[in-house]
Amino acid sequence: MAEHPAYPVGLRLTGRRVVVLGGGQVAQRRLPALIAAGADIILVSPEVTPSVQAMADAGEITWHQRPYEEGDLADAWYALIATGDTEANTRASAEAERNRVWCVRSDDADEATAWTPATGHSEGVTVAVLTTDARGRDPRHTAAIRDAVVEGLRDGTLVAPHHRTRTPGVALVGGGPGDPDLITVRGRRLLAEADVVIADRLGPRDLLAELPPHVEVIDAAKIPYGRFMAQEAINNALIEHAKQGKSVVRLKGGDPYVFGRGMEELQALAEVGIPCTVVPGISSSISVPSAAGIPVTHRGVAHEFTVVSGHVAPDDERSLVDWPALARLTGTLVILMGVDKIGKIAEALVAHGKPADTPVALVQEGTTAAQRRVDATLATVAETVRTEDVKPPAVIVIGEVVKVGPTATAPRE
Ligand SMILES: C[S@@+](CC[C@H](N)C(=O)[O-])C[C@H]1O[C@@H](n2cnc3c(N)ncnc32)[C@H](O)[C@@H]1O
Repeated sequence: MAEHPAYPVGLRLTGRRVVVLGGGQVAQRRLPALIAAGADIILVSPEVTPSVQAMADAGEITWHQRPYEEGDLADAWYALIATGDTEANTRASAEAERNRVWCVRSDDADEATAWTPATGHSEGVTVAVLTTDARGRDPRHTAAIRDAVVEGLRDGTLVAPHHRTRTPGVALVGGGPGDPDLITVRGRRLLAEADVVIADRLGPRDLLAELPPHVEVIDAAKIPYGRFMAQEAINNALIEHAKQGKSVVRLKGGDPYVFGRGMEELQALAEVGIPCTVVPGISSSISVPSAAGIPVTHRGVAHEFTVVSGHVAPDDERSLVDWPALARLTGTLVILMGVDKIGKIAEALVAHGKPADTPVALVQEGTTAAQRRVDATLATVAETVRTEDVKPPAVIVIGEVVKVGPTATAPRE
């Protein structure tokens, strides 16, 4: 018989009998999807793996502890034949053929009347990959295609915009510290589906270059604000584009809620009834020290880390930071937006009791090609920033963790 391609179909198995013969690795691999499909699963096998046993114990399948017997497929809509006994498999697939029950066979794809595709899921879509004919069957190849498609859909490198279900509105996306690989999978996908992207100076700017030409990219720093505050102008731009029915991504550096004014934007959108989703991001406060080899905590060294904004000096009346309390803490202090004021900050910490030789590291442009790390102490940091010409954006880490490196020392506790 000439080989024709298999005809792909999605079986709706809810409440329908599926018979599985054999309780080994093949059944173990296939059962979760059959359970997820809501099938009424009868498993026939003298022995099963511990995982299959757990599914039976949980009531997800009904296990008949015996070998296959003629008649087992009587009420089945679908069968998975996967015993270790070829002769039993042959008898079972003959019964399936007689009863017109579609069956897959783990030991002989040629004799099977159905094949299991390599499947994966992404955002409400099932991707199923089959080779065209039995001779071309190459499970690793189909699995690799499945992985490439699912991965591409998840990270947005394969662009398949939603049409019917796409809801216009705004997504506040935390883009991570700068390295384009450090955005979340969800953030990347939303970016790929956007009509308009309003981006900050910080964050994964390289990703903007990859967007298709129809996507309007707006630099948040360049939105003219006239009689408004800059933030108001950004809020207005978000509202204006969303009102035109567009999918708008507000791409922000790090996490939207860490010194990112994310909630202000969300509130402005809520006020005019525009739906907004927030996608968390990897904050520079943790990832930038990490990229420079500094753990913000380390057993026996620091039991806490505190993230502080240094955009106003400790003696500024607008400051909401309790610097004397911070000086008393023994853990790690992470300062964002603190390059300009680090001299005054170091002075305040020392004045309130933090040892002047406490180690400090400044990590500029973390996770990007321009990353650099400069080390100092509280006593020397102001001078070091000047002589080394440290510029924002930089994360400043203060504490003994700065000296923890790959060479292990025994922790104190
Ligand atoms: C307005 S705050 C935004 C923080 C952001 N939402 C986050 O979670 O990382 C900007 C500050 O974050 C820090 N920062 C952000 N990205 C950085 C990077 N790649 N390297 C060094 N510092 C960075 C700097 O201290 C910068 O001044």
